Amino acid sequence: MTETSHAPSHALLSGRVRGAKPSATKEMTRLANQLKREGRSVITLSQGEPDFPTPRHVREAAKAAIDRNESRYTDVAGTLALREAVARKFERDNGLVYGVDQIQVGCGAKQLLYNALQATLDPGDEVVVPVPAWVSYPEMVRLAGGTPVIVRCGASTGFKLTAARLQGAITARTKWLMLNSPSNPSGAVYTRQELLALAQVLSRHPQVWVMADDVYEKIRYEDTPFATPAAVSPELAARTLTINGVSKAYAMTGWRVGFGAGPAELIKAMNLVQSQSTSHTSSISQAAAIAALDGPMDFLPGFLQAFRRRRDAVVARLNGIDGVACDLPPGAFYAFPSCQGLLGRRDESGQTIESDADLALYLLRVAGVAVVPGSAFELPGHFRVSYAASDAELDEAMARIGDACAQLR
Ligand SMILES: Cc1ncc(COP(=O)(O)O)c(C=O)c1O
Repeated sequence: MTETSHAPSHALLSGRVRGAKPSATKEMTRLANQLKREGRSVITLSQGEPDFPTPRHVREAAKAAIDRNESRYTDVAGTLALREAVARKFERDNGLVYGVDQIQVGCGAKQLLYNALQATLDPGDEVVVPVPAWVSYPEMVRLAGGTPVIVRCGASTGFKLTAARLQGAITARTKWLMLNSPSNPSGAVYTRQELLALAQVLSRHPQVWVMADDVYEKIRYEDTPFATPAAVSPELAARTLTINGVSKAYAMTGWRVGFGAGPAELIKAMNLVQSQSTSHTSSISQAAAIAALDGPMDFLPGFLQAFRRRRDAVVARLNGIDGVACDLPPGAFYAFPSCQGLLGRRDESGQTIESDADLALYLLRVAGVAVVPGSAFELPGHFRVSYAASDAELDEAMARIGDACAQLR
Protein backbone atom coordinates (compact mmCIF):
# COMPACT_ATOMS: atom_id res chain seq x y z
CA MET A 1 0.00 0.00 0.00
CA THR A 2 1.30 3.49 -0.73
CA GLU A 3 1.94 6.02 2.01
CA THR A 4 -0.67 8.40 0.62
CA SER A 5 -3.46 5.86 1.00
CA HIS A 6 -2.92 6.16 4.77
CA ALA A 7 -2.95 9.96 4.74
CA PRO A 8 -5.79 11.41 6.81
CA SER A 9 -8.37 13.25 4.77
CA HIS A 10 -7.73 16.99 4.57
CA ALA A 11 -10.89 17.66 6.56
CA LEU A 12 -9.50 15.78 9.56
CA LEU A 13 -6.50 18.05 10.03
CA SER A 14 -6.69 21.26 11.99
CA GLY A 15 -5.99 24.58 10.30
CA ARG A 16 -2.99 24.96 12.60
CA VAL A 17 -1.42 21.74 11.37
CA ARG A 18 -2.36 22.30 7.73
CA GLY A 19 -0.56 25.64 7.93
CA ALA A 20 2.61 24.21 9.53
CA LYS A 21 5.69 23.02 7.68
CA PRO A 22 7.51 19.82 8.63
CA SER A 23 11.06 20.34 9.87
CA ALA A 24 13.26 20.99 6.81
CA THR A 25 16.32 19.50 8.48
CA LYS A 26 14.45 16.28 9.18
CA GLU A 27 13.12 16.33 5.58
CA MET A 28 16.66 16.53 4.13
CA THR A 29 17.74 13.71 6.41
CA ARG A 30 14.73 11.65 5.27
CA LEU A 31 15.63 12.20 1.59
CA ALA A 32 19.22 11.27 2.35
CA ASN A 33 18.13 8.07 4.10
CA GLN A 34 15.90 7.20 1.16
CA LEU A 35 18.87 7.48 -1.24
CA LYS A 36 20.95 5.38 1.16
CA ARG A 37 18.30 2.66 1.10
CA GLU A 38 18.54 2.74 -2.69
CA GLY A 39 22.22 1.92 -2.32
CA ARG A 40 23.69 5.40 -2.90
CA SER A 41 26.64 6.59 -0.82
CA VAL A 42 25.28 9.62 1.02
CA ILE A 43 27.02 11.76 3.63
CA THR A 44 24.49 13.39 5.95
CA LEU A 45 25.57 16.85 7.09
CA SER A 46 22.00 17.98 7.74
CA GLN A 47 21.67 16.79 11.34
CA GLY A 48 22.46 18.86 14.41
CA GLU A 49 23.94 16.44 16.86
CA PRO A 50 27.40 15.77 18.24
CA ASP A 51 28.87 12.49 17.00
CA PHE A 52 30.69 11.81 20.30
CA PRO A 53 29.56 9.22 22.87
CA THR A 54 27.75 10.45 26.00
CA PRO A 55 30.41 10.75 28.77
CA ARG A 56 30.89 7.51 30.69
CA HIS A 57 29.96 8.87 34.13
CA VAL A 58 26.60 10.00 32.72
CA ARG A 59 25.89 6.57 31.25
CA GLU A 60 26.88 4.96 34.58
CA ALA A 61 24.49 7.25 36.48
CA ALA A 62 21.64 6.15 34.21
CA LYS A 63 22.45 2.47 34.80
CA ALA A 64 22.53 3.08 38.55
CA ALA A 65 19.11 4.79 38.36
CA ILE A 66 17.72 1.76 36.56
CA ASP A 67 19.17 -0.53 39.23
CA ARG A 68 17.64 1.65 41.96
CA ASN A 69 14.33 1.17 40.13
CA GLU A 70 13.82 4.87 39.58
CA SER A 71 11.05 3.94 37.21
CA ARG A 72 8.09 5.91 38.50
CA TYR A 73 6.42 9.13 37.41
CA THR A 74 8.32 12.19 38.60
CA ASP A 75 7.07 15.72 39.33
CA VAL A 76 5.81 17.37 36.13
CA ALA A 77 8.47 20.09 36.49
CA GLY A 78 11.20 17.42 36.84
CA THR A 79 12.64 15.73 39.92
CA LEU A 80 13.56 18.03 42.77
CA ALA A 81 17.15 16.73 42.61
CA LEU A 82 17.46 17.65 38.94
CA ARG A 83 15.89 21.07 39.41
CA GLU A 84 18.40 21.69 42.22
CA ALA A 85 21.22 20.65 39.88
CA VAL A 86 19.82 23.01 37.21
CA ALA A 87 19.73 25.84 39.77
CA ARG A 88 23.41 25.14 40.60
CA LYS A 89 24.27 25.19 36.88
CA PHE A 90 22.60 28.58 36.31
CA GLU A 91 24.33 30.09 39.34
CA ARG A 92 27.75 28.60 38.56
CA ASP A 93 27.81 29.27 34.80
CA ASN A 94 25.60 32.32 34.37
CA GLY A 95 25.42 34.05 37.77
CA LEU A 96 21.63 33.57 37.75
CA VAL A 97 19.87 32.58 40.97
CA TYR A 98 16.61 30.64 40.64
CA GLY A 99 14.45 28.74 43.10
CA VAL A 100 13.20 25.27 42.19
CA ASP A 101 9.73 26.72 41.50
CA GLN A 102 11.32 28.86 38.78
CA ILE A 103 12.68 25.86 36.88
CA GLN A 104 11.05 23.42 34.51
CA VAL A 105 12.61 20.28 33.01
CA GLY A 106 11.17 18.91 29.77
CA CYS A 107 11.80 16.53 26.86
CA GLY A 108 14.65 18.55 25.40
CA ALA A 109 15.01 22.31 25.09
CA LYS A 110 12.49 21.94 22.29
CA GLN A 111 9.67 21.15 24.70
CA LEU A 112 10.54 24.16 26.85
CA LEU A 113 10.18 26.46 23.83
CA TYR A 114 6.94 24.73 22.88
CA ASN A 115 5.49 24.88 26.40
CA ALA A 116 6.29 28.57 26.76
CA LEU A 117 4.67 29.51 23.44
CA GLN A 118 1.61 27.37 24.13
CA ALA A 119 1.29 28.87 27.60
CA THR A 120 1.43 32.49 26.47
CA LEU A 121 0.23 33.08 22.89
CA ASP A 122 -3.24 34.04 21.79
CA PRO A 123 -4.27 34.47 18.14
CA GLY A 124 -2.75 37.66 16.79
CA ASP A 125 0.08 37.76 19.29
CA GLU A 126 3.42 38.43 17.64
CA VAL A 127 6.81 36.89 18.27
CA VAL A 128 9.93 38.55 16.92
CA VAL A 129 12.16 35.92 15.32
CA PRO A 130 15.52 37.22 14.07
CA VAL A 131 16.63 35.05 11.15
CA PRO A 132 18.43 32.93 10.19
CA ALA A 133 16.85 30.98 13.02
CA TRP A 134 16.35 27.37 13.92
CA VAL A 135 13.64 25.92 11.66
CA SER A 136 11.30 25.17 14.56
CA TYR A 137 10.87 28.71 15.91
CA PRO A 138 8.39 30.11 13.37
CA GLU A 139 6.50 26.82 13.16
CA MET A 140 6.15 26.51 16.92
CA VAL A 141 4.85 30.08 17.06
CA ARG A 142 2.26 29.28 14.38
CA LEU A 143 1.25 26.03 16.07
CA ALA A 144 0.57 28.04 19.23
CA GLY A 145 -1.67 30.40 17.23
CA GLY A 146 0.79 33.29 17.17
CA THR A 147 2.35 35.21 14.30
CA PRO A 148 6.11 35.06 13.79
CA VAL A 149 7.58 38.44 12.82
CA ILE A 150 10.61 37.52 10.77
CA VAL A 151 13.52 39.97 10.95
CA ARG A 152 16.29 39.27 8.45
CA CYS A 153 19.79 39.59 9.90
CA GLY A 154 22.35 38.85 7.20
CA ALA A 155 26.11 38.55 7.12
CA SER A 156 26.55 42.36 7.34
CA THR A 157 25.51 42.30 11.02
CA GLY A 158 27.16 38.95 11.68
CA PHE A 159 23.71 37.33 11.36
CA LYS A 160 22.69 39.17 14.55
CA LEU A 161 19.75 41.36 15.48
CA THR A 162 20.58 45.03 16.03
CA ALA A 163 18.80 47.47 18.34
CA ALA A 164 17.40 49.41 15.36
CA ARG A 165 15.94 46.31 13.73
CA LEU A 166 14.46 45.16 17.02
CA GLN A 167 12.85 48.55 17.53
CA GLY A 168 11.38 48.38 14.02
CA ALA A 169 9.85 44.95 14.60
CA ILE A 170 8.06 45.58 17.91
CA THR A 171 4.34 46.41 17.90
CA ALA A 172 1.70 46.57 20.63
CA ARG A 173 1.01 42.87 19.90
CA THR A 174 4.59 41.69 20.46
CA LYS A 175 4.82 39.17 23.30
CA TRP A 176 8.22 37.58 22.81
CA LEU A 177 11.63 38.08 21.28
CA MET A 178 13.33 34.76 20.55
CA LEU A 179 17.12 34.91 20.79
CA ASN A 180 19.51 32.05 20.17
CA SER A 181 23.20 32.38 20.98
CA PRO A 182 25.33 30.64 19.80
CA SER A 183 23.01 30.42 16.84
CA ASN A 184 21.78 27.53 14.81
CA PRO A 185 22.39 27.87 11.82
CA SER A 186 24.88 30.78 11.71
CA GLY A 187 27.04 30.04 14.76
CA ALA A 188 26.77 33.75 15.70
CA VAL A 189 27.37 34.61 19.36
CA TYR A 190 25.98 37.78 20.98
CA THR A 191 28.33 39.81 23.14
CA ARG A 192 27.24 41.36 26.42
CA GLN A 193 27.34 44.80 24.75
CA GLU A 194 25.05 43.65 21.95
CA LEU A 195 22.59 42.18 24.45
CA LEU A 196 22.69 45.40 26.48
CA ALA A 197 21.76 47.38 23.35
CA LEU A 198 18.79 45.06 22.80
CA ALA A 199 17.87 45.33 26.50
CA GLN A 200 17.80 49.10 26.17
CA VAL A 201 15.20 48.85 23.38
CA LEU A 202 13.20 46.31 25.41
CA SER A 203 13.19 48.62 28.44
CA ARG A 204 10.86 50.87 26.40
CA HIS A 205 8.51 47.93 25.68
CA PRO A 206 7.72 46.24 28.99
CA GLN A 207 5.16 43.90 27.37
CA VAL A 208 7.88 42.06 25.44
CA TRP A 209 9.43 38.97 27.02
CA VAL A 210 12.66 37.29 25.96
CA MET A 211 13.07 33.62 25.21
CA ALA A 212 16.81 32.98 25.37
CA ASP A 213 17.79 29.66 23.80
CA ASP A 214 21.27 28.90 25.11
CA VAL A 215 21.52 25.21 24.12
CA TYR A 216 24.87 25.79 22.37
CA GLU A 217 26.33 27.73 25.34
CA LYS A 218 29.26 25.32 25.75
CA ILE A 219 30.06 25.07 22.04
CA ARG A 220 32.07 28.28 21.59
CA TYR A 221 35.56 28.82 20.18
CA GLU A 222 36.46 32.25 21.57
CA ASP A 223 37.60 33.08 25.08
CA THR A 224 35.06 35.83 25.77
CA PRO A 225 32.71 35.04 28.68
CA PHE A 226 29.28 33.74 27.70
CA ALA A 227 26.54 36.39 27.79
CA THR A 228 22.86 35.59 28.27
CA PRO A 229 20.01 38.15 28.34
CA ALA A 230 18.83 37.48 31.93
CA ALA A 231 22.36 38.12 33.21
CA VAL A 232 22.88 41.47 31.46
CA SER A 233 20.03 43.31 33.14
CA PRO A 234 17.97 42.51 36.27
CA GLU A 235 15.04 44.34 34.69
CA LEU A 236 15.21 41.97 31.73
CA ALA A 237 15.67 38.92 33.99
CA ALA A 238 12.16 39.56 35.35
CA ARG A 239 10.74 38.82 31.89
CA THR A 240 13.21 36.34 30.45
CA LEU A 241 12.89 32.60 30.07
CA THR A 242 16.38 31.11 29.81
CA ILE A 243 16.42 27.74 28.08
CA ASN A 244 19.26 25.26 27.99
CA GLY A 245 19.77 21.51 28.04
CA VAL A 246 22.16 18.60 27.92
CA SER A 247 21.71 17.60 24.25
CA LYS A 248 24.59 19.51 22.69
CA ALA A 249 27.13 20.05 25.49
CA TYR A 250 27.04 16.46 26.75
CA ALA A 251 26.28 14.63 23.47
CA MET A 252 22.90 13.53 24.85
CA THR A 253 20.44 14.39 22.06
CA GLY A 254 18.54 11.12 22.38
CA TRP A 255 18.13 11.33 26.16
CA ARG A 256 15.69 14.23 25.76
CA VAL A 257 16.44 16.53 28.67
CA GLY A 258 16.13 20.29 28.45
CA PHE A 259 15.40 22.90 31.10
CA GLY A 260 14.28 26.45 31.46
CA ALA A 261 14.23 29.06 34.21
CA GLY A 262 12.22 32.22 34.61
CA PRO A 263 9.54 33.91 36.69
CA ALA A 264 7.56 31.36 38.77
CA GLU A 265 4.23 32.41 37.29
CA LEU A 266 5.40 31.59 33.76
CA ILE A 267 6.92 28.27 34.87
CA LYS A 268 3.66 27.37 36.59
CA ALA A 269 1.75 27.94 33.33
CA MET A 270 4.33 25.90 31.41
CA ASN A 271 3.94 23.09 33.94
CA LEU A 272 0.21 23.13 33.24
CA VAL A 273 0.86 22.70 29.50
CA GLN A 274 3.39 19.92 30.10
CA SER A 275 1.12 18.15 32.60
CA GLN A 276 -1.45 17.73 29.80
CA SER A 277 1.04 16.47 27.21
CA THR A 278 4.15 14.46 28.12
CA SER A 279 3.96 14.90 31.94
CA HIS A 280 7.75 14.84 32.14
CA THR A 281 10.81 13.40 30.49
CA SER A 282 12.12 9.92 31.40
CA SER A 283 13.04 9.43 35.05
CA ILE A 284 16.25 7.65 33.97
CA SER A 285 17.24 10.51 31.68
CA GLN A 286 16.66 12.94 34.54
CA ALA A 287 19.05 10.96 36.77
CA ALA A 288 21.61 11.01 33.95
CA ALA A 289 21.20 14.77 33.54
CA ILE A 290 22.05 15.33 37.23
CA ALA A 291 25.32 13.48 36.69
CA ALA A 292 25.98 15.56 33.57
CA LEU A 293 25.33 18.92 35.25
CA ASP A 294 27.11 18.16 38.52
CA GLY A 295 29.91 16.05 37.06
CA PRO A 296 33.33 16.77 35.63
CA MET A 297 33.60 18.71 32.37
CA ASP A 298 36.99 17.26 31.46
CA PHE A 299 35.60 15.77 28.22
CA LEU A 300 34.57 19.20 26.86
CA PRO A 301 38.01 20.47 25.73
CA GLY A 302 38.32 17.30 23.61
CA PHE A 303 34.90 17.91 22.02
CA LEU A 304 35.77 21.55 21.35
CA GLN A 305 39.17 20.73 19.93
CA ALA A 306 37.63 18.31 17.45
CA PHE A 307 34.84 20.73 16.52
CA ARG A 308 37.31 23.60 16.03
CA ARG A 309 39.57 21.49 13.80
CA ARG A 310 36.57 20.43 11.70
CA ARG A 311 35.17 23.96 11.55
CA ASP A 312 38.47 25.40 10.34
CA ALA A 313 38.85 22.68 7.71
CA VAL A 314 35.26 22.92 6.47
CA VAL A 315 35.25 26.72 6.26
CA ALA A 316 38.58 26.74 4.41
CA ARG A 317 37.31 24.16 1.92
CA LEU A 318 34.02 26.02 1.40
CA ASN A 319 35.86 29.28 0.74
CA GLY A 320 37.94 27.45 -1.87
CA ILE A 321 34.79 26.84 -3.94
CA ASP A 322 34.06 29.43 -6.63
CA GLY A 323 30.67 30.99 -5.83
CA VAL A 324 30.70 30.11 -2.11
CA ALA A 325 31.73 32.42 0.77
CA CYS A 326 31.77 31.55 4.45
CA ASP A 327 32.73 33.50 7.60
CA LEU A 328 34.29 31.62 10.50
CA PRO A 329 31.43 30.94 12.94
CA PRO A 330 32.38 31.58 16.60
CA GLY A 331 29.98 29.00 18.05
CA ALA A 332 27.76 25.92 17.59
CA PHE A 333 28.79 23.26 15.03
CA TYR A 334 27.46 24.64 11.77
CA ALA A 335 28.92 26.55 8.85
CA PHE A 336 26.45 28.82 7.05
CA PRO A 337 28.03 29.83 3.74
CA SER A 338 26.53 32.11 1.12
CA CYS A 339 25.87 30.40 -2.21
CA GLN A 340 24.74 33.55 -4.02
CA GLY A 341 27.63 33.18 -6.45
CA LEU A 342 26.31 29.80 -7.65
CA LEU A 343 22.74 30.87 -8.28
CA GLY A 344 21.89 31.21 -11.97
CA ARG A 345 24.41 28.56 -13.02
CA ARG A 346 23.23 25.42 -14.85
CA ASP A 347 23.64 21.76 -14.02
CA GLU A 348 24.65 18.98 -16.44
CA SER A 349 21.14 18.77 -17.90
CA GLY A 350 20.86 22.51 -18.44
CA GLN A 351 18.59 23.09 -15.41
CA THR A 352 19.24 26.41 -13.69
CA ILE A 353 20.07 26.43 -9.99
CA GLU A 354 17.67 29.21 -9.07
CA SER A 355 17.75 28.99 -5.29
CA ASP A 356 19.51 27.58 -2.26
CA ALA A 357 16.83 24.86 -2.19
CA ASP A 358 17.71 23.87 -5.79
CA LEU A 359 21.37 23.79 -4.78
CA ALA A 360 20.71 21.55 -1.74
CA LEU A 361 18.77 19.09 -3.92
CA TYR A 362 21.51 19.23 -6.56
CA LEU A 363 24.20 18.49 -3.96
CA LEU A 364 22.19 15.56 -2.64
CA ARG A 365 21.56 14.17 -6.13
CA VAL A 366 24.99 14.75 -7.69
CA ALA A 367 27.39 14.82 -4.73
CA GLY A 368 25.48 12.55 -2.38
CA VAL A 369 25.82 15.11 0.43
CA ALA A 370 22.84 16.29 2.50
CA VAL A 371 22.96 19.94 3.60
CA VAL A 372 20.06 22.22 4.53
CA PRO A 373 19.06 25.21 2.37
CA GLY A 374 19.17 28.62 4.06
CA SER A 375 15.52 29.24 3.15
CA ALA A 376 14.62 26.60 5.76
CA PHE A 377 16.08 29.05 8.29
CA GLU A 378 14.31 31.95 6.56
CA LEU A 379 17.54 33.30 5.03
CA PRO A 380 17.75 32.25 1.37
CA GLY A 381 21.02 32.40 -0.56
CA HIS A 382 22.86 30.28 2.00
CA PHE A 383 23.10 26.68 3.08
CA ARG A 384 23.95 24.99 6.37
CA VAL A 385 26.62 22.38 6.79
CA SER A 386 26.76 20.57 10.12
CA TYR A 387 30.38 19.73 10.93
CA ALA A 388 29.40 17.40 13.76
CA ALA A 389 30.68 14.51 11.64
CA SER A 390 33.98 12.63 11.46
CA ASP A 391 37.03 14.30 9.87
CA ALA A 392 37.06 11.64 7.15
CA GLU A 393 33.39 12.15 6.30
CA LEU A 394 33.83 15.91 6.21
CA ASP A 395 36.90 15.62 4.01
CA GLU A 396 35.04 13.41 1.54
CA ALA A 397 31.90 15.58 1.67
CA MET A 398 33.86 18.77 0.96
CA ALA A 399 35.62 17.14 -1.98
CA ARG A 400 32.28 16.01 -3.40
CA ILE A 401 30.63 19.42 -2.88
CA GLY A 402 33.63 21.11 -4.52
CA ASP A 403 33.43 18.79 -7.56
CA ALA A 404 29.67 19.16 -7.90
CA CYS A 405 29.86 22.97 -7.70
CA ALA A 406 32.70 23.02 -10.26
CA GLN A 407 30.43 21.16 -12.70
CA LEU A 408 27.90 24.00 -12.64
CA ARG A 409 28.19 26.31 -15.64
C1 LIG B 1 18.65 26.34 18.49
C2 LIG B 1 18.16 25.04 19.02
N1 LIG B 1 17.36 25.04 20.09
C3 LIG B 1 16.88 23.90 20.61
C4 LIG B 1 17.21 22.68 20.06
C5 LIG B 1 16.61 21.44 20.65
O1 LIG B 1 17.45 20.81 21.52
P1 LIG B 1 16.92 19.62 22.41
O2 LIG B 1 17.58 18.39 21.88
O3 LIG B 1 17.37 19.95 23.79
O4 LIG B 1 15.44 19.56 22.30
C6 LIG B 1 18.05 22.62 18.94
C7 LIG B 1 18.36 21.34 18.31
O5 LIG B 1 18.84 21.24 17.21
C8 LIG B 1 18.53 23.84 18.41
O6 LIG B 1 19.34 23.85 17.34
